[in-house]
Amino acid sequence: QQLAAHMSAWEGPKEALPAAIHACTRCPLHQNATQAVPGVGPLDAALMIVGEQPGDQEDLAGLPFVGPAGQLFDRVAEAAGLRRQEAFVTNAVKHFKFSPRGKRRLHQRPNSGEIEHCRWWLDAERALVKPKLILALGATAAEALTGTGADILRRRGTVEQLADGTPVLLAVHPSFLLRLPDPAERERQMALFEADLRRAVEMVA
Ligand code: URA
Repeated sequence: QQLAAHMSAWEGPKEALPAAIHACTRCPLHQNATQAVPGVGPLDAALMIVGEQPGDQEDLAGLPFVGPAGQLFDRVAEAAGLRRQEAFVTNAVKHFKFSPRGKRRLHQRPNSGEIEHCRWWLDAERALVKPKLILALGATAAEALTGTGADILRRRGTVEQLADGTPVLLAVHPSFLLRLPDPAERERQMALFEADLRRAVEMVA
């Protein structure tokens, strides 16, 4: 990572990428997190799934999407026929950002500067995996990939093209679904989310 500091893109051998992410001090978020959480999955995956950042449980486990949002994702993915083990699953930001509240650690959204700093690693993962399709979950992933996280509810279900031609299918973040208080609206948004995951499966088939 020190060596890589002068490079405009990460150029190490692919086996070294997780360790380089673990050693990252590009922004202050590493100071309070337990560890960085690099992406996991086959490096030849056709589908790359990008979330926001590790949550409390991911920070402790060192793996993406293992907490409540990941469990919801897994349930909907199964219904949609999306096999998560076949995808490369990662986050826009690799360290957990939180504020301490007693014994709890309350999730805080990464800001644009943190997203921009960490895009270095997302770009490195993209360059390695070269996915056929990226599924962006939520506004932070949308911002990291497309430059803006605005209007995710309007953009969800649509495909945007990145500069290198990679299509990005936009979807909401599963924790948005977990937070929806109205059962009817939650059901509606869950159905849309499932349809988006189904579309991702069809697009990489
Ligand atoms: N939310 C995310 O965006 N990513 C995770 O890994 C966990 C929760």
